[in-house]
Parts: sequence; structure tokens; C-alpha cells
Amino acid sequence: MKFLSLFFSFFLSLLFAQSAITPIPLTSIYDEEKAELGKELFFDTILSEDGRMSCVSCHILPGNGADNVAFSVGLDGHIAKVNTPTVLNAVYNFSQFWDGRAEDLHEQALMPIFNPDELGSSIEEAIERLKKSPYKKKFSDIYADGVTQKNIADVLGEFEKALITPNSRFDQYLRGDEDALSEKEKKGYKTFQDLGCIACHNGVNIGGNMYQKIGVMVEYDYPDANTNKRALDGRYNVTLRQRDKRVFKVPSLRNIALTAPYLHDGSAKSLRDAIIEMREHQLGILEKNSEIEDIEMFLKTLNGEAPKILEEMK
Ligand code: HEC
Ligand code: HEC
Repeated sequence: MKFLSLFFSFFLSLLFAQSAITPIPLTSIYDEEKAELGKELFFDTILSEDGRMSCVSCHILPGNGADNVAFSVGLDGHIAKVNTPTVLNAVYNFSQFWDGRAEDLHEQALMPIFNPDELGSSIEEAIERLKKSPYKKKFSDIYADGVTQKNIADVLGEFEKALITPNSRFDQYLRGDEDALSEKEKKGYKTFQDLGCIACHNGVNIGGNMYQKIGVMVEYDYPDANTNKRALDGRYNVTLRQRDKRVFKVPSLRNIALTAPYLHDGSAKSLRDAIIEMREHQLGILEKNSEIEDIEMFLKTLNGEAPKILEEMK
């Protein structure tokens, strides 16, 4: 165990050498006309088979871009198999979903429409409904081929590109404002670096740029018997490689204080619980001490400003 932990610190220090956190850009680049149409669609129940749900049913906006339950409930009471991640800043993730099965937001956007756990439509049916609605004109004003699968994905993807939350206090600090963080918060950031959290949670999203196993140091047991096998498998679902079992996309820690409960199985009820789980399973630290509180103080500085595209909805 001791040897393993030494080995692991060495491995972390290698990773750490290249890892840094960068601020979210103050503005994002997207096609405004498409994003506005995507926004309308995101909030519209027309995409769901029974006309009762929309993307916003599970990804609450204006708000945290997720919901605050362990597993969202979709069409006909279908229960999602994993905790709903936020759509805020998802554009900065190197792939989408916990297991990375969608490469980008455009590929991702269609998947909830036909997932029975989410909106449950067939894409043909959704296209038919859109063609019989005012969306027909709105799409043909932008695209020569009007409502198509590709164009639906395109407008939703453009809207999601606009969903960034810049200028958190931590980003102000990164940009050189020493006073943006209190001494305790700075200490928390230092602990986050010194312990090695930053080896996995780095880059502009403080996560979202690599896959890692849950249980690198101490095996992770599912506390909730409800969790099914698919969630257990993680990245394995995509690659079918044994070593990818229980490997997940490292989640972003942006706005993390707002998106309880945590982990892919929603089992960590508070931010404190999530930090305790991480110290144990990812770093092998079992004793509880003031580090936990310091890190929590730091993580609470990561809430950014609401996306500009949602401004008039407040
Ligand atoms: C019933 C709830 C529900 C609805 C409705 C829903 N989603 Fe999701 N969304 C989820 C869940 C659960 C996941 C995680 C799935 C996974 O990782 O396997 C997810 C994942 C995502 C992600 C990936 C984020 C990341 O960081 O990996 C994006 C983006 C997203 N949804 C956008 C949308 C859009 C756009 C719509 C509407 C077309 C939508 N969702 C409708 C529950 C929902
Ligand atoms: C070896 C890589 C690794 C290290 C080191 C690591 N994490 Fe994580 N972190 C992950 C992965 C992977 C997940 C997703 C695990 C899951 O949901 O099963 C995660 C999830 C989280 C979550 C929950 C996010 C959410 O949206 O549900 C928080 C909070 C978090 N980590 C904070 C930390 C802190 C604080 C540290 C240091 C004490 C740390 N992590 C160290 C890889 C790591």
C-alpha cells in the first residue's frame, strides 16, 4: 500500500507537471441566429414523444444546467441510469456523457431525443412534428434544407456553445486579482494542488479533458443497490476494453457547489461528501481533517456568471 501510494504520487507529479487551470474566456464564439433557435428548441416540449418534456426538464436553465436529484426522471417515468451532468460549460469537455460516447455537442444533441430515458421520440417523428409547426419556417430561414436531423443538432449545439459561465472569483484570481480570493480560499487551492486533485481536474473546465477510473487507490463500492450495471461499466461501454471498467470522464468542477448530488451515481449528497470520496478512492487518504473544509472553500469560488444568452430570462 505504502509502495503503491509512493508510486502513485510519482505518477501524479508527472501529470501535474503539465496540468494547470485556465480561466473561462469572457466571451464565447457562436452563431447567434442558430443559437437563438437552439435555445427555443431546448425549452420546447415539441421534441418529446408525449409533448411533456424538454431538455430543460433535466437541465434547468436559467439555473445550474442540471437538476438536484440523483437520477432524473424522463418520459413515462423512465429513470436515468446516471446523474445528470450540467450543460453549462459542456462545450469545453473533450467528449460528452460520463462515458464519452458522443464526441461533441453536435453529435450529443440528438441522443436525448430518442433515448427512452429522456425524450423518447424517434427522430423521424420529431422532424415531422417540427415540419408541421412554425419551426419549419424558422429552420428554412437559416438552412436551405430546412428541418433535418443534422440541422436540429446544429442549432442545439450552437446554443450549448453559448452556455459558458465566465468570471468566477477564481478566474478573476487567475487573471491577477489577488484580492478575489480570501486567504482560506487560497489555502484551499493550494491543498487542491498539493494533494494532487489537480492532476485529474485541470484545464479550462477543471476536468472534462481525460478519462480516469473511480477507485484508483481504494476500490469504489456502489453504495446504492439501484445503480445498474451500465453505470458500473463506464468507458467500457464504448471501448469494450477490460481496463476501462469504472473509468469515467473526469467531470468539470466549474459551478460545482450548485450541482449536488455528485458522482455518476449521484451517491455523494454534499460537496463535502464528494471531496471525502475523492480523497479516499482517488488519492488513498482516509483520515478526515481540515483539508476537506479548505478544499470546499476553494471549490465554492468556482461559480461563474450566468451565460449572456439567458440574460433576458432572469
Ligand atoms: C430526462 C432527463 C434528460 C433530458 C430530458 C435531457 N437530458 Fe441531457 N442528460 C441527461 C443525463 C442523465 C445525461 C448523462 C447521460 C450519460 O452520461 O450517459 C445527460 C447528458 C447531457 C449532456 C452531456 C454533458 C456532459 O458533460 O457530458 C448534454 C450536453 C446534454 N445532456 C444535453 C441535452 C439536450 C440538448 C437535451 C434536449 C434535446 C437533453 N440533454 C435532454 C438527462 C437528460
Ligand atoms: C485520478 C483522478 C482524480 C483525482 C486525483 C481526483 N479526482 Fe475528482 N473525479 C475524478 C473522476 C473520474 C470523477 C468522476 C467519478 C464518478 O462519478 O464516479 C471525479 C469526480 C469529482 C467530483 C464530483 C463531480 C460531479 O459533478 O459529480 C468532485 C467534487 C471532485 N471529483 C473533486 C475532487 C477533489 C477535491 C480531489 C482531490 C481531493 C479530486 N477530485 C481528485 C477523478 C479524479
